[in-house]
Formats: sequence, structure tokens, C-alpha cells
Amino acid sequence: TLLVLDFGSQYSHLITRKLRDLNVYCEMLPCTQRLSELAWKPQGIILSGGPYSVYEDAAPHVDPAVFEFGVPILGICYGLQEMAWHYGKAVIAGEKREYGHANLHLEKIDGKAPHVNKLLEGFDDMQVWMSHGDKLDKLPSSFATIATTPNAPFAGIVHEEKPFFGIQFHPEVTHTQMGKKVLENFALNICKVRPNWTMAEFVDKELIRIKALVGDEGQVIGAVSGGVDSTVAAKLMKEAIGDRFHAVLVDNGLLRLNEAESVRTTLTQGLGINLTVVDATERFLTALKGVSEPESKRKIIGGQFIEVFQETALKISAEAVGPPKAGKIDWLLQGTLYPDVIESISFKGPSATIKTHHNVGGLPANMNLKIIEPLRELFKDEVRILGTKLGISESLVWRHPFPGPGLGIRILGEITPQQLRIARQADHIFIQEINDAGLYRNISQAFAALLPVKAVGVMGDKRVHEQVIALRAVETTDFMTADWYPFDGAFLKRVSSRIVNEVEGVCRVLYDVTSKPPGTIEME
Ligand code: XMP
Repeated sequence: TLLVLDFGSQYSHLITRKLRDLNVYCEMLPCTQRLSELAWKPQGIILSGGPYSVYEDAAPHVDPAVFEFGVPILGICYGLQEMAWHYGKAVIAGEKREYGHANLHLEKIDGKAPHVNKLLEGFDDMQVWMSHGDKLDKLPSSFATIATTPNAPFAGIVHEEKPFFGIQFHPEVTHTQMGKKVLENFALNICKVRPNWTMAEFVDKELIRIKALVGDEGQVIGAVSGGVDSTVAAKLMKEAIGDRFHAVLVDNGLLRLNEAESVRTTLTQGLGINLTVVDATERFLTALKGVSEPESKRKIIGGQFIEVFQETALKISAEAVGPPKAGKIDWLLQGTLYPDVIESISFKGPSATIKTHHNVGGLPANMNLKIIEPLRELFKDEVRILGTKLGISESLVWRHPFPGPGLGIRILGEITPQQLRIARQADHIFIQEINDAGLYRNISQAFAALLPVKAVGVMGDKRVHEQVIALRAVETTDFMTADWYPFDGAFLKRVSSRIVNEVEGVCRVLYDVTSKPPGTIEME
């Protein structure tokens, strides 16, 4: 296992991601982590980049024990500067910020120790990605130069006796040619980590971990939505503890056409999961009556969800078969993924921006449940691989995300049964056409939204005054930025004509051509 100490760079999690691709297991912790408090011994340490200047008073520094720990170290960008700072304060502000591609020139040195050329072994000069303001103004003592760029005379350095390396460029971004090979050289050849992190191994270990954690009698409850993460987490729990896992689907009345029923069938008949479906439609719609302000709608939906889930959890707990004790359920399943874990553990200094989280906690506080998070080590694409391994269908594993507030934030303005009918039918047609055209997997998320306005149209021989549907389809990798999907005209024509003809109450269809930013993916 490798340890990544994070100084808060926007690229830090990519280091972990790239190492995973090499089947190398690693953990990322904040740069302030004290090594003496670690319960395990890393085989190598990577110091990440970060937005600070090492010479500033408020700059973060690692536990000095890092340099005495006896394992190889790789400093990247700020990590290089941190190393140079430790070995002689050899860092200054550069005259100009360097951002983008640079030509890396390799220097071969006659090694005093066998490790010195190992990081960039077998490489030619190459293009690398730089993003830094500070640079080294001299070599720290006992170090030699292994690479230069026109603007950074010490773009790569190595300690002459110890396996300590520093590089100014970012090997973790795809813009750096051979970047992955740099990490591979460090992990496999220098740290001698065995590349044995595979999904099969993950499943075996996770099932053992869940069984040990929950014990022979423990019971677990968890909300499911029919989405990838909650379904994969639920299936893993089912494999580990069978019917001692209780899944709950809260039907908030804001789901898509036939969605509650199809989730029920998939989870119970398809995956054998012990599922309770609660139809809370009335309750949600009553609470939402007359409300059109987006934030109020979200708050009401989130609040109702917690209440309904909590009541259901208490009921299931009281009725559950098990040893006689007050609450029979001890654990709450959460489908947390690694990016959220990284977000909560990564080092945040004064200037760091914090991502807003959409997901509602939903913890039944008075039940004293302990949290179990079987997906907390996985990235989204790994969850999909895991889902397939657990026998979940391709179509579910690749399902587009659907927000917790559901159609509630896709019907702009007040939510009524009539508006729900229109939104459901229009969305169903749009998604059906996307599937028929074989485009579903090319698009990251698509839906029909219902606008709170009426427009004039001519239908048959009459003038009508009816509602407007806005179609939205985006391509994205991280949902933080997104581009609208370039459908061809014939496709849009087909969808528009079907919606206007088949959905009563709609006389116009628009296609949203706003990217994110400045737009968001959802419309409310
Ligand atoms: P935005 O609209 O912020 O959406 O660009 C980014 C992603 O998050 C989803 N989203 C939500 N998911 N509860 C959720 O569970 C919410 O309140 C929520 N709002 C947005 C959205 O569908 C997209 O995938």
C-alpha cells in the first residue's frame, strides 16, 4: 500500500486513480497526518501538489518523520518544493507562473546509488504538464538533477543516497506523456508494491469485512433508489448477510413513469433483495402543495424523505426477527463513493473551494445506527464493474443519475398531479427515443423538464394555449462541468413531434443548448 499525503491540489485524487489503474492500492490522507498515528505501514509515500507557497508562514508542512521513515518518497509539484524546503529551504517565487505544456529534458546521472535513474528510466525527452508559480532556485544538499524544462532548471531531482524523488510536473494528468509510467516506476520498481488490487479481490475482502463488522446477528437497513450506487451497495449487503439487510424504497410520488414498480421488480425478483416499498406520494404532494420556490421544494422533499425513512426504519426494526433487544437494526447502509471520501478528508486550506453536496444524510438519529459504507473505496466506474460482477444488468449499471428530489426539480414551479403526468410522459418518450437511436450510453444524463409557462400553438384547426417542454441532454465525466449533446436535427424533430402529438397539454418542445457552467444540469 502507498500513502498519498494531500496538500489540496485539484489533481490529488487523480494520483490515487492512476495508481488504481495499475492495480496498486493506495490511501490518501491530509498532509498533516502524523505517521506514528497510522495503523499500517506504507511502502512508499507520495506528496501531492497544492495551492500554497512553502515559504509562507501559513504553508502546510508534512510530519518531518516522513523523511526518516525509511520508505521511498515522490514529491509532485508542491511536494517537490516541500522536499526541497526540508533539505535547505531552496524554493523561491518564480518570475512567471508556468501553466500548461513544457518540454522535459532528461539528465542521466552516473548514479552513486542504483536508484538514481529509476524514476525516469527508459524515457526520452517528453511533453509534461506544469502548473506552478514557485520553483527551486538551487539544488537542495545531497540532491542531483534528473530533468529540466526551459523554465524550471530543477524540474526533476533525486536524493543521491536515498530513494527520494521530486518532480515539478504532474504525472497524474493525462496531458503528461508517460505520466502513468512515472507512477508505475515509482510504485512497482522503486517501492516494490505488488500490483494485486483487483475487483475480485475487493469483493472477497469486502464480504469478509461486512460479515465481521455486522456479526452473526446484526441487521442493516438502507435506502435504495434504483440507481447504480444504492443497488450495487444493496446487492453486496445481500451477498454478505442475506435477509438481515433490509432495503427501503421511498416512493415520493416524484419518480418517473412506472419507476417504483420496475425498481421493485429488479431488486426483489432480479436480485433477491429484501425490499420494503413505501408509497408516500400523498404525503409528499400534500407537503408540496402551493410551493414553487426551488429551494423550498428541495427542503420539503429532503425533510419528508428523512421523516418517512425514519418511520419505516423504526417499524422494520420493531418487526424484525432477531434476538430480543430494543432496536433490532444496528447499522445504516450508505452508498458513499471514494470521491466523497476524498472530498471530506482532503486537505483544505484557507483558499480552498468546497464542493457543495447534494445528498441528504437521512440518518434516523434516535436509532443510534452505525454507518456501513461498502463502496467507500471505489470510483464510479469501479462501482459499475463491481455491479456487473455481482450480476446486475448492464442497463441498470449504466443508468443515468436521477436526483433525489426527482421530477420535483424538473417540473419548474408548482408540482401537481397534472404536471407530473405531463413531465412523466414527455420524459418517457425522450428516453425511449434516445434508447432506440442507440445513444443512451453516449449521453451522461438526459431528461425532459416542464416549464411553468404557456405558449400559443395551432393544433388541428384551433389555436391552443399550452405548456412547454424543455429537453436536456449532457455529456460529462464528473458532472462538475458538462456540454449539451449535439443531437442531429432529424432526431430532435422526431422527439418533438411525438411529444406534441402524444402528450396532452403540451404544444411546444425546446432543446436546452446551455453548457455547465454557466448552466447547471438540472433546471432548478
Ligand atoms: P447540477 O444540476 O448541480 O447537477 O449541475 C449535478 C448532478 O447532481 C444531480 N443533482 C442532484 N442529485 N439530489 C441529488 O441526489 C439533488 O438535490 C440534486 N441536484 C442535482 C444532477 O442530477 C446531476 O447529476
